[in-house]
Amino acid sequence: MHSFAYKNGFLYCEDVNLADIAAQVGTPVFVYSKKTITDDLREFREALSPLKAHVAYAVKACSNKAILNLMARQGAGFDIVSGGELWRVINAGGDSTQCTYAGVAKTEPEIRYALEQNIYCFNCESENELREINRIAGEMGVKAPVAVRVNPNVDAHTHKYITTGTNENKFGVDISRIEDVYAMIAAELPHLHIKGLQMHIGSQLTDKQPFAAAVEKVLPIVKKFITLYGIEFWSIGGGIGIVYDGCLESGKPEWWAAHPEQITIQSYAAELIPRLQPLGIRILVEPGRRLVGNAAAMLTTCIYEKKGEAKTFKMIDAGMNDIIRPALYEGYHEIWPVREHQNDEILADIVGPICESGDFQAQNRRIADVQPGEVLAEMSAGAYGFSMASTYNSRPLAAEVLVDGDKWSVIRRRQTLEQIVEDECLPE
Ligand code: LLP
Repeated sequence: MHSFAYKNGFLYCEDVNLADIAAQVGTPVFVYSKKTITDDLREFREALSPLKAHVAYAVKACSNKAILNLMARQGAGFDIVSGGELWRVINAGGDSTQCTYAGVAKTEPEIRYALEQNIYCFNCESENELREINRIAGEMGVKAPVAVRVNPNVDAHTHKYITTGTNENKFGVDISRIEDVYAMIAAELPHLHIKGLQMHIGSQLTDKQPFAAAVEKVLPIVKKFITLYGIEFWSIGGGIGIVYDGCLESGKPEWWAAHPEQITIQSYAAELIPRLQPLGIRILVEPGRRLVGNAAAMLTTCIYEKKGEAKTFKMIDAGMNDIIRPALYEGYHEIWPVREHQNDEILADIVGPICESGDFQAQNRRIADVQPGEVLAEMSAGAYGFSMASTYNSRPLAAEVLVDGDKWSVIRRRQTLEQIVEDECLPE
C-alpha cells in the first residue's frame, strides 16, 4: 500500500500537498514517501519471519543516499552490482558485511575493493569470474565468499529486457552445469569459500507461479549443496512486481480485494515458505522495485499543449532522460494532475522536451485536460526512475525529496549546468 491520495482537491504524499513541493523545489522532482518504504520493508520481514530470512535491498532500483540510509537504519542488507554501489552503501551508513555482489562483469579493482570491505558474498555468474576472484583473493591472502547464480531456465513472463532466468540470457550458470561448477570450485579454487547459491529470474513479475517453479526446480540442488558444501544461504533474488496500471487506486484496501490475482508480499511468502522452511538455511530476498517503486511520484509541469491533425500532445518539462521506462520497456506509469480535475478527460500523448520520437511518458492516454503551468504527478516512479536518469540533451538531473508525515526534505539538490560539465576539459 502506498501513501499518495487526493485530499481537499490536491494530490498528497502522506500529509504533504505535492503542489507545495513543486512550488518550492521546482520540477521535475522525485518525491518519495518514507512511510511506504518502511511499511513495505516491515511487511517483507514479517511475511518471511517463519524463515531465517534477510532482505537485501537491490540498490540499483534507487540509490539515493537518504534512501540507502533509511534502509540501513531499518536493518536491510544490500544487493549491489558494482563497486560504485558498494561505495554508495558505505557512504550512506550501510554495512558492507551485509552486501551481496551480483553482476556478470566485475572488474579487478571492484573485486579487490569488495574483498577489502569484507562483503557478505560474491554472487558469481561464470567460471572465468570465479577463477579471477580466486586469483585476486589468493594474492590478497584472503578467502573470498562466493555463491554462483544458477539460471533455472524458467520463463518469468515479463518484458523481454527484464527477463533474466532463461538460457537465452547472459545471466548465471545453466542449471544443467551448476553441479559441475561447484565441484570445480571445491577441487580447483582454494581461495574461494562456497557460501551459498543464488538465482533471480526477472523483474516486475506479477504472478507467483514462476517464482514457485524456479524454487521447485532448484530445491534438490540446494539440498545437495547443503550436504556437500555446507552452504549457509540461498538467495532467491528479487523481482516481485508492483501495480503500475491502477496505481492510485491500489493505495486503497478495496482495490486489493478486487484483484486477488495480483502478487503481494503475503502471497509470495505463502507460496514459498512451505518449500523453503524445511531447508533450515538462511534465505535471502533481493527486492528492489517492490520496496521503492510505488513509494515515489515524479512531479513535472505541463509546458505547452499542441493539437496536431491526429493527436493532442501535452508537452512536459520531464523527458526520457528523467524516466526512461516508457521508452525502454514500454513501461506504463499513471499520470495524475496534482490539482484534482473533474470530468474533463481528453485523449493525449504526454511527451517530453527531448529530440526523439521515443521521448514520451504516455501515449493515447485518457488524462485530465491539464493546462500549461499545471503540475502532473507521474506515479510509481521510485524504482528505476531517478537511478536510470541521464543528462541527455544537457538536462540537469532532477531533484529528489523525501516526505515524512507532514514534513519533507530535499535529499538531492537539482543538478546545475556547471556540475554537468565540471569534468570536461579542452585538449592540451
Ligand atoms: N537481484 C538481481 C540479481 C537483479 O538483477 C535485480 C534486478 C534485482 C535483484 C531486483 O529486481 P526487482 O525486485 O527490482 O525486480 N530497469 C528495469 C528493471 C531491471 C531489473 C534489473 N535487475 C525496469 O525499469 O523495469
